[in-house]
Amino acid sequence: MTESVSAARPPQGANGAPLPDVIAVDGPAASGKGTIAAGVARALELHYLDSGSLYRLVALKALRTGVAFDDEPALAILAAGLDVRFDDGAITLDGADATAAIRQEDVSAGASRVAVHGSVRRALIERQRAFRRPPGLVADGRDMGTVVFPDARIKVFVTASAEERARRRHKQLIAKGISITMDGLLRDIRERDARDTGRAAAPLKPAPDAVLLDTTNLTIDEAIARVLALYRAAVDRTNAEDPKA
Ligand code: C5P
Repeated sequence: MTESVSAARPPQGANGAPLPDVIAVDGPAASGKGTIAAGVARALELHYLDSGSLYRLVALKALRTGVAFDDEPALAILAAGLDVRFDDGAITLDGADATAAIRQEDVSAGASRVAVHGSVRRALIERQRAFRRPPGLVADGRDMGTVVFPDARIKVFVTASAEERARRRHKQLIAKGISITMDGLLRDIRERDARDTGRAAAPLKPAPDAVLLDTTNLTIDEAIARVLALYRAAVDRTNAEDPKA
């Protein structure tokens, strides 16, 4: 892990008041970023945004309404009009629970296909920024540190080998009673990686000031502890530079 975190002053809103801190956690599919980000949010009692769920909701809504994944204008309208509620981990779409539905494999693949469209991404950006409320936010996704919250207090880019990610995913699905081959999972993960890193709009890549966190040989608790340590160090550095910040 590299240790160069910028200790920027807390960003200010339009009225000059400091904006709540953001911890941006980006990384590829099944890298563990969601579990890490949720654990950090719990430990620090901050809000949590799983930005991938928004792309999943657009894909689910498209599947339900017969909109093709390459119909960018229609998808952007769906994204702008999503009727969604987030309550403590439960997600409601059009008034009905969609928490499990958005995790299905066809929705996962669809999410990375709707996410290539610039107008879909733009339609979702303010919805994501609205999660930034006191006392602060931990946001996970692909472009939290590069596009949505470029002024995040710390940016972490979580990686793990594709084989390790497929193995973790396999274990999760088997525990849920879903049978799937490792070969199929590895292929899906590689396809999603290629789409996420190769797209023109907000491609998956570490922000220049992100800390790389390779979790291939780390437990979730170890990874969470590293992010907490980085955050505390960044806050301490700012306080030492400007005790009034
Ligand atoms: O993180 P998760 O796997 O739930 O995200 C589903 C898909 O949504 C990803 O494969 C990616 O293509 C897209 N996504 C994105 N930008 C984000 C979060 C997710 O493009 N910030």
